[in-house]
Amino acid sequence: MDVKLRLLRFNPESDDKPHFENYEVEADPMDRLLDCLHLVKWQKDSSLALRRSCAHGVCGSDAMVVNGVNALACKVLIKDLEQPIVVEPIRGLPLIRDFIVDMEPFFAGYRAVKPWLIVDESQHEPERERLQSPKERERFDDTTKCILCAACTTSCPIFWSDEEYVGPAAIVNAHRFIFDSRDQGSRERLEILSQRDGVFKCRTAFNCTAACPRGIKVTQAIQEVKRAALFQSF
Ligand code: SF4
Ligand code: F3S
Ligand code: FES
Repeated sequence: MDVKLRLLRFNPESDDKPHFENYEVEADPMDRLLDCLHLVKWQKDSSLALRRSCAHGVCGSDAMVVNGVNALACKVLIKDLEQPIVVEPIRGLPLIRDFIVDMEPFFAGYRAVKPWLIVDESQHEPERERLQSPKERERFDDTTKCILCAACTTSCPIFWSDEEYVGPAAIVNAHRFIFDSRDQGSRERLEILSQRDGVFKCRTAFNCTAACPRGIKVTQAIQEVKRAALFQSF
């Protein structure tokens, strides 16, 4: 079938601002949008710039705005998209070129919440693995699924207007450790998240939950972190 694409292009060396360009490629209805973007790049214009790696919804590098909705280009099928398929870079992060944005503000929020296991090893060297029951593991199972694609954070209206807000992805990754029975850094993380740019900036818009390609209950995780910060319950 013929597939019509309308891509927002931007080359900082020659363009003052982004502009749309139209393309047409031959593809199968079961092809993914990423396949069509590859066809544009390989057959029509090799200067098209985009990030991708796994092509299977795992690496999180090809989040884009597809027909107005955040999605991974490698997960959406052509048959499910209205044409022309309008593709834009994710919003709220500085645009570098075509679909490539500067992810640094996003990762700054991620790093700020210390997304690693914090344990007090000063007392003794552990002599065996840190045990956890299936029930304790279940508590944070949903938030382990995050692939750091930024679809949630860049769909959040609070983040669009305030890049300092840590954003839903950072909170999801804080949740993953706050509710981990082996972790001893929850107080520290909740203190960071209680600051001005932390979890209480969320206005429960739910865009993040709708945008997550992994189906994570992002807003629910944010509410749980808010409660944990308010009542020191984790
Ligand atoms: Fe992507 Fe979902 Fe993780 Fe947000 S929570 S970064 S949308 S995988
Ligand atoms: Fe933004 Fe999600 Fe909260 S869209 S306002 S982080 S519920
Ligand atoms: Fe890895 Fe799409 S290319 S998630």
